[in-house]
Amino acid sequence: MNDSPTSPVSDDVVELRPHSPASLEPLLRWKNDLEIQRLSDDETHTYSREQVAATLERWMRPSEEIVHLSIGLVGRAEPIGFLHLALIEQAHQRCRLGIVIGEKELWGRGYGHQAVVRAVGHAFDVLGLERITAEVFADNPRSVRLLEGAGFVREGVMRESIHRDGRRVDELVYGLLRHEWSKGHK
Ligand SMILES: CC(C)(COP(=O)(O)OP(=O)(O)OC[C@H]1O[C@@H](n2cnc3c(N)ncnc32)[C@H](O)[C@@H]1OP(=O)(O)O)[C@@H](O)C(=O)NCCC(=O)NCCS
Repeated sequence: MNDSPTSPVSDDVVELRPHSPASLEPLLRWKNDLEIQRLSDDETHTYSREQVAATLERWMRPSEEIVHLSIGLVGRAEPIGFLHLALIEQAHQRCRLGIVIGEKELWGRGYGHQAVVRAVGHAFDVLGLERITAEVFADNPRSVRLLEGAGFVREGVMRESIHRDGRRVDELVYGLLRHEWSKGHK
């Protein structure tokens, strides 16, 4: 593996796993990281250990409406992040993707990209869905590059969607369709 912080990694390094109790400690850290909260949540909160443990317990329960997965690296036991395929609607064959690489020193190495590629494969090939939506705050350029790098298409802007630091911030809506994916983004 190339350790350069800017080099994408080889295809087989990232793996998606079911959550286990081992996710609790890192999750507690990531959920209380202000920078991660600002990039991925509408509001900032302080989460207690009990709250995060309850969240994790929910994430470990099988559900037809949401798939929660831990992002790991081959050969490393501790997770580096998490993602979900939420709001799964079989009637409309669609869902919504959310992702966090919690270990910030690992940002920019291509792990997020590989995790998204695997999650998209899961949504289309395993769940049989036709469309994945992702929403990102307009002031989160890394996430924009992540989605566009994986083939997502910008479909619209929810103008002034959230309130933060005394100003309103747009939210960008991205979508990826199965036929676009199978054409060239595998
Ligand atoms: C957004 C986030 C998940 C990205 O994870 P990451 O591991 O840093 O992302 P990556 O390194 O895979 O992708 C980012 C870069 O790699 C590029 N990339 C890497 N491998 C690639 C490949 N094989 N093909 C195309 N693009 C690739 C991306 O285009 C992007 O370019 P950049 O170097 O100019 O930034 C991570 O920063 C994070 O968790 N942030 C906080 C939470 C958040 O913002 N979540 C998203 C909310 S929607």
